[in-house]
Amino acid sequence: MQIGVIGAGYVGLVTAAVFADLGNDVVCHDRDESRIRMLQQGEMPFYEPGLQEMVTRNMRDRRLRFTTRVDEMVDFARVIFIAVGTPADSDGDTDLSQVKSAARAIGQHMKEYKIIVNKSTAPVGTGDLVRQIIAAHQPQPVPFDVVSNPEFLREGSAIQDMLNPDRIVIGAPSRQVAMAVMELYAPLGRPILVTDVQTAEIIKYASNAFLALKISFINAIADLCEATQADIEMVARGIGLDHRIGPHFLRAGLGYGGSCFPKDVQSLIHTARRYRVDDGLFVAAHRINRVRVERFVHRMDHVLNGLDGKAIGVWGLSFKPDTDDLRESRAVELVQRLLDAGATVQVYDPVAVPRARTVLGDTVVYCTNAYEAAQDVDALAIATEWREFRQVDFDRLRQRMRQPIIFDGRNMYDPERMARMGFYYYSIGRPMVSPERAAG
Ligand code: UDX
Repeated sequence: MQIGVIGAGYVGLVTAAVFADLGNDVVCHDRDESRIRMLQQGEMPFYEPGLQEMVTRNMRDRRLRFTTRVDEMVDFARVIFIAVGTPADSDGDTDLSQVKSAARAIGQHMKEYKIIVNKSTAPVGTGDLVRQIIAAHQPQPVPFDVVSNPEFLREGSAIQDMLNPDRIVIGAPSRQVAMAVMELYAPLGRPILVTDVQTAEIIKYASNAFLALKISFINAIADLCEATQADIEMVARGIGLDHRIGPHFLRAGLGYGGSCFPKDVQSLIHTARRYRVDDGLFVAAHRINRVRVERFVHRMDHVLNGLDGKAIGVWGLSFKPDTDDLRESRAVELVQRLLDAGATVQVYDPVAVPRARTVLGDTVVYCTNAYEAAQDVDALAIATEWREFRQVDFDRLRQRMRQPIIFDGRNMYDPERMARMGFYYYSIGRPMVSPERAAG
């Protein structure tokens, strides 16, 4: 199949690479010239495991190419995926300007029947909007169909998620159109759910909001555990063993970040209000998440007797491990709050430092390894649970620190062990431990 993709961002690039890898001919368009030039030279605009190899291989085999010319892409493709950004506008509603401009461009250049598949996360009703814009911009009427096919990719495992999704959702105006898109996914052999367009659009928001809700739920329970000296890890296990609840997405911590959950929950709040439906549940998820870092810093401030003038090491900057993405990163928020409180901050992240420089500038000291970030600090804060932080030499770490105090925002370690290793260890939703307690 000849496939076009508009948008060489996260979703667009992974979609283009995987469809090419499955044997389709793919043209990926982006209006950003420097990005396209980079890709044409085999360089990725962001870090995603396995992506570079897949893109290079398919470019070499001539199944994948990149262009800034939208007309060329529209001419070439029978199925066009829209995978552009849908950021939040200033009051949290979804900014659809890139989707609209993609639809305009498709309409202007369409000379024969096409299926337009929206992959961008956009509120219910966007399929209709895309249809209207395309129709309004066609030089002369040509038939076309619009499909909603939401993606459920996680950064860091996007290729695997695309090759091996739990389900594929295709919201199409007719069975026949759905079949054409299903054909593209058939080689994956995964469950496919066919719905109407608006149902598919809501499935995407309902999935992300539900996961966000799970995280905010466990964080609210973590606060209760902290207040009562209970242990959130055991609580999560205790409830997760009920198969109706399930063990996933119950990790308490600094809350959710990234390019999806924060923005999608807010967008859902706007949509609910637009249709005069109760938004209370979504508002609560958002509110609980918003104060996680503030609460964490407050605790640091209390334990350290003020943060002004204190040296703090921070491990992790990306919004989660295995990515250099800093969007809505709780780690970056943590650093900024520590700086605001007058602390000096030294940071380490295995991959996100180059990106962090563009966000944090020279307000912090960038370190080349985890131990360096702990050198002479009054306390160490863990913000992102990178795997390499699991295998730490705790003796070496403790000797570097001015005071052996750790605030773990991601519950990486066993508290009893930390106490035995000589640390004052504060984690989320678990009792604080100290060396004295271990000795006693
Ligand atoms: C998410 C969805 O998982 C994906 O299906 C959707 O398409 C896009 O949004 P992503 O943002 O890449 O993917 O990351 P994910 O791994 O889901 O984590 C999101 C955030 O939640 C991270 O900040 C993570 O640290 C946090 N999280 C996750 C928790 O705090 N606790 C958990 O139990 C799980």
